[in-house]
Amino acid sequence: MTEQSQKTKKRPSAETGFATRAIHAAQIPDPTTGAVSTPIYQTTTYAQKAVGVHKGYTYSRTGNPTVQVLEDSLAILEKGVGGACFGTGMSAITAVFSLLSQGDHAVVGRVVYGGTPRLCDNILSRFGLKFTYVDTGDLEAVNEAITEKTKLVFIETPANPTLKLTDIKAVSEIKKNAKLVVDNTFLTPALQVPIDLGADITLHSTTKYIEGHNTTVGGAVVLKHKKDHEDLKYLQNAMGLIQSPFNAWLTIRGLKTLDVRMKRHCENAQIIAEYLEGHPKVTKVLYPGLDSFPQASLARRQHSKGHGGMLSFELKGGVKAGMKFASSLSLVTLAENLGAVETMVTHPATMTHAAMSKKARLEAGITDGLIRLSVGIEDPDDLIADLDQAIRKAVS
Ligand SMILES: Cc1ncc(COP(=O)(O)O)c(C=O)c1O
Repeated sequence: MTEQSQKTKKRPSAETGFATRAIHAAQIPDPTTGAVSTPIYQTTTYAQKAVGVHKGYTYSRTGNPTVQVLEDSLAILEKGVGGACFGTGMSAITAVFSLLSQGDHAVVGRVVYGGTPRLCDNILSRFGLKFTYVDTGDLEAVNEAITEKTKLVFIETPANPTLKLTDIKAVSEIKKNAKLVVDNTFLTPALQVPIDLGADITLHSTTKYIEGHNTTVGGAVVLKHKKDHEDLKYLQNAMGLIQSPFNAWLTIRGLKTLDVRMKRHCENAQIIAEYLEGHPKVTKVLYPGLDSFPQASLARRQHSKGHGGMLSFELKGGVKAGMKFASSLSLVTLAENLGAVETMVTHPATMTHAAMSKKARLEAGITDGLIRLSVGIEDPDDLIADLDQAIRKAVS
């Protein structure tokens, strides 16, 4: 690229479409070389011309140009003032809860990724933080749980793995002085922008759809308020909760195709949800795009462009049939992840949500027979053929 064309290359404006922003928003050609792909700045430190005279980077725990591009890209897509990236989704969640102080209280959705209540109950509670779990789909329950000590309301919508929804706008209107945090891992900003709906903080396990190819674990937080962004960046450096330049680079690459991937995930999931719903050996299907979904009208209102690639279902024959089904699949992989191009199946009770007590799991609707499917972007006919043969083996 010539010097001239580098100069004329501008960042797209906020009015451009999502796909354009995902590719270009924070990713201008490298100022030093013109490299179109953001370089991996694999460096610990940065030479200073004189003491305190540097180009904005001093040490890679404090800041790294590759990671910064990912942080800026996500902040633009999630409509916040700034972002911060982390080594895992759990470290992103740890960082957000670390904004609280001893004695502070948080209201947490009853149905969230199992690692979140494990972090709250077994670790953060030791530092004097208090938690109340509520069905955040029930606004009265949320309202009742919020006290003057409540600093955060933490929700996941759709929630893992029951797909239970929370009305983000309605919760933002009753949250009083608390900050509303939305784990947006399942839909991504391609389908839902929580800050637009009233959230203060949005976060991701970028391990899932954002990176999308089963190659990294990572996390990200985007903040609506400048002070929260400053506090989180301080905390990130002080606690050392960072992401590596290589993982950030892979995630930037994934982000560029997020829009097309999410469209295909939605299309495939709708086809498979309808197939499962019509199958005589299937007793229950949970997918927000089905008319039978208990919160179908909220789904249509809140999900601007689609309902995502996640669904859960139960087979006739419960746990035993579910186990046999999971091990009879051949194209679909039995694995503990979601949101990648490959279709994956999980048994939440023994895998992703095994850290929860049985009582808490059942209260959250995570029955022993529930099977979670992360629908990938393969040809849907091939997926259906695989599901079909596995159901036939599992349920006689
Ligand atoms: C919705 C959600 N949030 C957070 C996490 C934690 O992310 P990570 O595994 O990247 O630490 C997960 C992991 O499955 C998740 O599903």
